[in-house]
Amino acid sequence: MTAELFLRYIHFISIFAIVGSLASEYVLLKQTLSRAELNRLAKVDAVYGIAAITLLAAGLTLWLGGFEKPSEFYSKNWIFHLKLTLFILVGLLSIYPTVFFLKNRRGKPDETVTVPSVVFIILKMELALLFIIPVLAGLMSRGIGYMG
Ligand code: HEM
Repeated sequence: MTAELFLRYIHFISIFAIVGSLASEYVLLKQTLSRAELNRLAKVDAVYGIAAITLLAAGLTLWLGGFEKPSEFYSKNWIFHLKLTLFILVGLLSIYPTVFFLKNRRGKPDETVTVPSVVFIILKMELALLFIIPVLAGLMSRGIGYMG
């Protein structure tokens, strides 16, 4: 397996893990949650965090590693930069739910906590943004948006 193929594999597996973990969080979320349920959500959220790091590492290496296409191919493409911006936006949006799960998971396991509606809204926004990114990836990988 070439390095590039391996990186593409990591890129895709990480995407599966990101979508899987965020969709699971959305399904597991309720207006009131026990500390035990919040602890489970924090663990699912950790999968998202790890996958975001491996995705970024593989993406950066594909971009700057000088494989099939030179790094300029991506650096000078506005659709690629839009894709990166949306990825960063998803990461920034995820901060609030992550902090909420981590802060509230400790205590008596059957104690309940009310989940602010903004957590539901943020998760919906993250999932919506994730549906846009692959379209941008497909376009930019074919050179659409290149400004060189
Ligand atoms: C949730 C976030 C992301 C998603 C859903 C995503 C999705 C994809 C997809 C579907 C492809 C394959 C495109 C194709 O061959 O048609 C791809 C390729 C690629 N991605 Fe991402 N990506 C994400 C984040 C990133 C990030 C953060 C970077 C860079 C730091 C990155 C850099 C790349 C590069 C360089 C390629 C190779 C494109 C080519 O084949 O020429 N991606 N991505």
